[in-house]
Amino acid sequence: MKILGIESSCDETAAAVVEDGRVILSNVVQSQIDLHKAYGGVVPEVAARSHIEVINAVIDTAVSEAGSWNQIDAIAVTRAPGLIGSLLIGTLAARTLAIVKNKPLIPVHHIEAHVYATFLNHPASTPLQPQPDFPLLALVVSGGHTQLLLFKNHGDLQVVGGTRDDAVGEVFDKVAKILGLPYPGGPSISKAAQNGDPRAYQLPKAKLDLPYDFSFSGLKTATLRAAQKVVGKTHDFPSGAIAPLLSAKQQADLAASFQSVAIATLVDKFIEACQEFQPASTALAGGVAANQLLRSELTRRLNQLDTPLAVAPPALCTDNAAMVASCGYFRVINHVNGRPTQSVFADPYTLTVDPNFELT
Ligand code: KG4
Ligand code: ZN
Repeated sequence: MKILGIESSCDETAAAVVEDGRVILSNVVQSQIDLHKAYGGVVPEVAARSHIEVINAVIDTAVSEAGSWNQIDAIAVTRAPGLIGSLLIGTLAARTLAIVKNKPLIPVHHIEAHVYATFLNHPASTPLQPQPDFPLLALVVSGGHTQLLLFKNHGDLQVVGGTRDDAVGEVFDKVAKILGLPYPGGPSISKAAQNGDPRAYQLPKAKLDLPYDFSFSGLKTATLRAAQKVVGKTHDFPSGAIAPLLSAKQQADLAASFQSVAIATLVDKFIEACQEFQPASTALAGGVAANQLLRSELTRRLNQLDTPLAVAPPALCTDNAAMVASCGYFRVINHVNGRPTQSVFADPYTLTVDPNFELT
């Protein structure tokens, strides 16, 4: 079964065709990073306008690289969560094509879809690798979300923990802005941290009453305070004026100290959850999964527990439509196998978007 995936929930316009949920036949991602760089973050109106401009060409390229419309069995599209203007463009394109081309339409949840990046075979042309087993414990870390999910099966999942405030990727982006590092903050902090000492600044790890919940706003504020202090200013000094006063060494040390606490927080909670839930396998997904320190630390700690970890290559960790197509496929298959957990197909005439829809 070949599924066309469409993704436009934030600042990537993407379309991909995936066969049987695992083999990528095409994967087109048009990133808007350069458009938003000047603002230090995603501007919703700019994002929506850019999606409109490129979405038809992105979909055309994905379908033609994979074959033709006749070979497409269904369309899967991200309907939640995300920026409302951005979600509307992708779903409108998917709904229109579902009607015009007479294809079933599968709405998917963006966070759940991120986990399916670990089901995609990579490289696409190699023999099929083993896929993650259930129960599957997944950590989804992106610019908008930080969630621990326990999947009993496809479409049958439980949220084990989440962030109380900022998502971890969002904190990387905000701290990068304070340190004068370019957007997106994740890759630029990691790069700067390579030359820094992670023990240069003592930054706090949040302690919460719920064991698998996260909080990153305290770490962000502590990094801001450390930066103000090191340039000899008090806490009322504007965050946007610190960067020009930082030396390269101070910038690198702050980046490394922040990164080590952010990553240790994620790794420690994930390992604790793994010890409690004893999953058959684990997965790391979302844009922040591209972080090398997170990948290596988690791999090392899970090896000690003898629990396998699936992580997609960095290009499939950030937003893409192959993961959306894969998620749609496994939803359909699960349905066909007689274990429907919710209605899989949507009416293209009435499908709505839901910017704040949380997994439960
Ligand atoms: O999943 P994604 O592409 O979009 C959302 O759904 O949010 O994730 C983007 C986020 C950004 O916050 C970016 O800074 C972060 O992923 N990111 C990283 C790295 N690469 C991207 N964070 C930490 N380290 C990285 N290497
Ligand atoms: Zn995402």
